[in-house]
Amino acid sequence: MTMIQVNNLIKNYKKVEALAGVDIHVKPGEIFAYLGPNGAGKTTTIRILTGLTQATSGTCSINGFNIEKQVCQAKQQYGLVPQAINLDQELTVQENLIIHGWLYRMKSADISSRIHALLDYVELSEKKKSQVKTLSGGMKRRLMVARALLHGPKVLFLDEPTVGLDPGIRRKIWALIKKIQTTGTTIFLTTHYIEEAEFLADRVAFLDQGRIVALDTPDRLMENLGAWAIDRLVEDGMETVYFKTRHEAERFNTLKSEQFTLRRVNLEDAFLDLTGKKVK
Ligand SMILES: Nc1ncnc2c1ncn2[C@@H]1O[C@H](COP(=O)(O)OP(=O)(O)O)[C@@H](O)[C@H]1O
Ligand SMILES: [Mg+2]
Repeated sequence: MTMIQVNNLIKNYKKVEALAGVDIHVKPGEIFAYLGPNGAGKTTTIRILTGLTQATSGTCSINGFNIEKQVCQAKQQYGLVPQAINLDQELTVQENLIIHGWLYRMKSADISSRIHALLDYVELSEKKKSQVKTLSGGMKRRLMVARALLHGPKVLFLDEPTVGLDPGIRRKIWALIKKIQTTGTTIFLTTHYIEEAEFLADRVAFLDQGRIVALDTPDRLMENLGAWAIDRLVEDGMETVYFKTRHEAERFNTLKSEQFTLRRVNLEDAFLDLTGKKVK
């Protein structure tokens, strides 16, 4: 079973080729990170998957519903937290949620009980009657997550969920994302923060200029390089050398006298390795 299926997705904006043939299969219950630099095509993909933009070609479905041919059913399957804050700032927290419930044609009693449960879940119960404009950035982000979950979707799309947030607040959002996964919700998130993908994702797709250049679990993406890395200063900059074991790395270093740092391999190494090969 595939929860999100994308086949040969192409999107051209006049002369810009934003997506050049993307294939994605997201399994139920997984956190899938779509990682890439600004302009890679991440938002374009989410906009197509959530019916906000039409693809030039290719097919997408969510929980088996084609997003162009079965629009209404597909829309019930997902919730979206866009990158920009699009709450109604003049209305209260509760009012923003009620309107969402109406848009999804939920019953009044269901709206009330879901609002109660979700505000508790994202720790915003005390702010229920506050105007949105009085909330902090982290609170607004959490409210957007609550709103996206109100109608009980199977899939949650998060476009750059922690961009511009302080490190402490980012970690709080990360914890919330992990908590949502435990309820069985499938999560598709975009990010340009490598450590965010490494921390959260079951699988990661590296997107570069509209193309997926690698797609696997973080562990498998890293294991080709080894487990340990030494960063050291060399004449023309920095060099990183990779090793299977810590012992090998330490032995290498006794032969060299210059400044160095010994550390574990991380997803950034895999990313640099993959994109480095593409430099012409
Ligand atoms: N509405 C649009 N019109 C023209 N070009 C666009 C539009 N939206 C995005 N693009 C271009 O498509 C590419 C991918 O953009 P986007 O999906 O926003 O990237 P990301 O979210 O990864 O930063 C970029 O080159 C961007 O300039
Ligand atoms: Mg974007």
